[in-house]
Amino acid sequence: MIKPHRIFVGLFVITTMAIACHHKPDIIEPNPNGNGNIPDTIIVVNPDPCSPDTVYFQNTILPFVNSNCAMSGCHDSNGSGEADPYTTYSQIRSNRNDMLEEMQQGTMPPQSSGITLTADQITQFQLWIQQGAQNNSCQEDCDPTQGSFATNVAPIIETYCVGCHGSNSPSLENYAQISAAAADPSFMNSLHGINGSPIMPQNTTGLPDCQIQQIQNWIDAGRPNN
Ligand code: HEC
Repeated sequence: MIKPHRIFVGLFVITTMAIACHHKPDIIEPNPNGNGNIPDTIIVVNPDPCSPDTVYFQNTILPFVNSNCAMSGCHDSNGSGEADPYTTYSQIRSNRNDMLEEMQQGTMPPQSSGITLTADQITQFQLWIQQGAQNNSCQEDCDPTQGSFATNVAPIIETYCVGCHGSNSPSLENYAQISAAAADPSFMNSLHGINGSPIMPQNTTGLPDCQIQQIQNWIDAGRPNN
């Protein structure tokens, strides 16, 4: 005959096992590749380094669209005339397929803007769509002690400035133009948004500190074409 206290011990063991076997709730971690299902307007600050296979909205697509499409009179926040505004993630996400088609057909940006997108820029936009058009970001590998023109400065200007600064003064399309513009104090003033210069890139809160420092290093070194 089973004694009552044995039944009690048995139940205790079974209950303990049942609790131990119960699944822990899944912890939802941010996806290191930024491919998680990220809600609309939240800017994800992802501390992970950039993966060369992923196109990131915050790092590449937004600066590209800002510089090449969202200048004043075009797809800016006022949405001038017929043009849809392309200044936020939701706006760019909803219009992404039309945007890609126009870029591929060469109808946007219009010829009159003087902007010619590179094949690589269009491919990046297409890849971003194929990867789920996420509002993703990553930590760029940036060394604040560097300041080479070709490795650091030119890519920053290409990503963040050149679309607007083909037609808007100062022109920043090649070494000679960038160097001439950077000889004027208004260049660094505009990167900091100080001394009466509007903050650049326009429509943003400015470049990351490390990129500003690299440009400063290059200017301090005498703006070499290195
Ligand atoms: C969305 C378009 C846009 C982008 C992107 C942009 N600019 Fe500008 N920039 C302008 C416009 C428009 C002006 C004229 C603004 C004014 O005079 O109020 C201007 C003015 C300037 C000036 C003159 C400032 C002064 O004090 O007169 C400098 C220098 C400049 N930009 C540098 C840059 C650099 C460097 C970048 C990239 C890091 C950049 N801009 C990105 C549109 C843009």
